[in-house]
Amino acid sequence: MIRKHAAWIAIGALVVIIVIGVVAFGNTTPEDDAGTGIPPQDPGLVAAGAPLYQANCASCHGEDLRGTSKGPSHLSIIYEPNHHGDMAFVLAAKNGVQAHHWRFGNMEPVPGLSDEDLAAIVAYVRSIQREEGFEPYPP
Ligand code: HEC
Repeated sequence: MIRKHAAWIAIGALVVIIVIGVVAFGNTTPEDDAGTGIPPQDPGLVAAGAPLYQANCASCHGEDLRGTSKGPSHLSIIYEPNHHGDMAFVLAAKNGVQAHHWRFGNMEPVPGLSDEDLAAIVAYVRSIQREEGFEPYPP
């Protein structure tokens, strides 16, 4: 009787451990997110965001997101999601940015982008960050 209980407890513990393992590690394996902890992005949003980013942001932030003489790299560690959340990208485009992290000057607002456009741009940026990983700040 006691032995039977012990067996059930062991099986129960095993199930709990497996469930925790799947929940904690099932989605993001360290190899495929370049250590960023960024989850996979919606492929449709990423595909929509790529040309919008190239048309509206790349002239300063770079076609490869690594910055130009007019604006900083979006692969800098300061633009990781916990420091500059998705809303920071939406607000930057809508209101512009007062220069504070770099010496490129202010960013003017970028007109003509809907909330859907901006959500797509953010998904694109996060997908490239996830693939490429981050650069140190200061560079
Ligand atoms: C004309 C050049 C230019 C364009 C175009 C531009 N940016 Fe910027 N952006 C800048 C500069 C310069 C800064 C750096 C400000 C600083 O010193 O922190 C910046 C900063 C930012 C930041 C950081 C905001 C913060 O809170 O610190 C975000 C996010 C950003 N840009 C997103 C975008 C997005 C998205 C687009 C396209 C929709 C875009 N930018 C287009 C020049 C530009």
